[in-house]
Amino acid sequence: MSRTIIVSNRLPTKIQRTEESLTFQPSEGGLATGLGSIYRQDGNVWVGWPGLFVEDAAEEEYVCEQLSHDSMVPVFLTEAEIRDFYEGFSNSTLWPTFHYFTQYATYEQEHWDAYVAVNEKFCRAVLAQAGPEDTIWVHDYQLLLLPEMLRRERPEATIGFFLHIPFPSYELIRVLPWRAELLRGMLGADLIGFHTFGYMRHFLSAVQQLLGLSSQNGQIEVPDRMVLVDAFPMGIDYKRYVRAAASEEAKMHEANYREALRDVRVILSIDRLDYSKGIAQRLRAFELLLQRYPEWREQVSLIMVVVPSRDQVAQYASLKEEIDELVGRINAQYRTITWNPIHYFYRSFPLEELASLYRLAEVALVTPMRDGMNLVAKEFIASKADKKGVLILSERAGAARELSDALIINPTDTGQLAEAMHDALVMPEDEQVQRMSAMQALVRQYNVFAWTKLFMARLEYSKMKQHTMATE
Ligand code: G6P
Repeated sequence: MSRTIIVSNRLPTKIQRTEESLTFQPSEGGLATGLGSIYRQDGNVWVGWPGLFVEDAAEEEYVCEQLSHDSMVPVFLTEAEIRDFYEGFSNSTLWPTFHYFTQYATYEQEHWDAYVAVNEKFCRAVLAQAGPEDTIWVHDYQLLLLPEMLRRERPEATIGFFLHIPFPSYELIRVLPWRAELLRGMLGADLIGFHTFGYMRHFLSAVQQLLGLSSQNGQIEVPDRMVLVDAFPMGIDYKRYVRAAASEEAKMHEANYREALRDVRVILSIDRLDYSKGIAQRLRAFELLLQRYPEWREQVSLIMVVVPSRDQVAQYASLKEEIDELVGRINAQYRTITWNPIHYFYRSFPLEELASLYRLAEVALVTPMRDGMNLVAKEFIASKADKKGVLILSERAGAARELSDALIINPTDTGQLAEAMHDALVMPEDEQVQRMSAMQALVRQYNVFAWTKLFMARLEYSKMKQHTMATE
């Protein structure tokens, strides 16, 4: 039987070291939460890093054993690899470049060398798992070289690649000293998927301009093969969020929060700590709302959840300080004895508590500067059983291509964002229901299962097409 080997830098389970033991928790981020629901089917396995530095062989063995119960195969990274591959090339070179923050990007030969070495490490780990009939599905920017490495070893293999972050304009890609190697690495796949047509167009243009390879209808001819490129907007496990929001636990948390908040109206923001998410800009816009519309003071609170992420990378650490400072300043200026403008949490929440926050919120702010897709927007929509609530969405999130019934804003326009919050708070209920119903229909239909199915069908088609071309 053929299986799918899913490969990503981060496994859907994250291991953390406490004083006495190792703890296993769900990972953060769209890739892990989105794919978490599908990988366990049909004997599939997931190969990736469990998120910690493992100290000795006995611990390695223990981790392997524990993860194997959940069909996961760990790839262990050394401390130097965590520094140079993960914090270095992946998150200080590729991440800022692909999110249009080139001012934060570094270009270090050592980081590149580690990136190549870790992609090779992943290649060996995948080859140890994958039989000739298996499909290999590689995910995200940490593993751009892996498709080609796998192809070299297994010319006949079926290899898919999906990028979960934006693919930027050629003008940004050309800045990277290793741009041609990265593009060639991706072209080892049979099918390359992006969240939007815009990202796909940028990729095709980069391949044309940097490698001189032209394309027709999303097909690129590379020597001996044809590579398909297409857009697949990722969805969520819709029913899981519907169920979580309907659970007794979520209802109980919601009732407690309402009481503690004395029924003030709630605007919600949930993100990983990241400069691409526009968190500081969002805080400034909320402050502007309180200045422009004093009637909302003591009537509305912002609940802001920031999930810790990559805090060993300098820009993330300084963003954390900026957020702490902004929240402190705004709260100090506007708070009263009975009302807090911003309730700020720097930690992750279990699903049922998140669901209770989605239930509680009348408005969700998803206003990234750049975001490949953003699944929080879709989770909020799925959680709104009564169809009331307003989504404010950045035009620069991939999700904006689909969710046109949200209030779409430019996240750098603080004034526009403050006005959108006001508009959301005064929006008539029937308009909320109308917009929410349309968005729910879409998010329900294009869920993560439909997404996987489409990708896999297209991958199969690309293989078939190659066989027919070869026999013609
Ligand atoms: C984004 C990326 C994922 C990544 C996640 C969490 O969603 O697309 O590849 O896993 O962020 O980031 P981390 O660095 O903690 O893996």
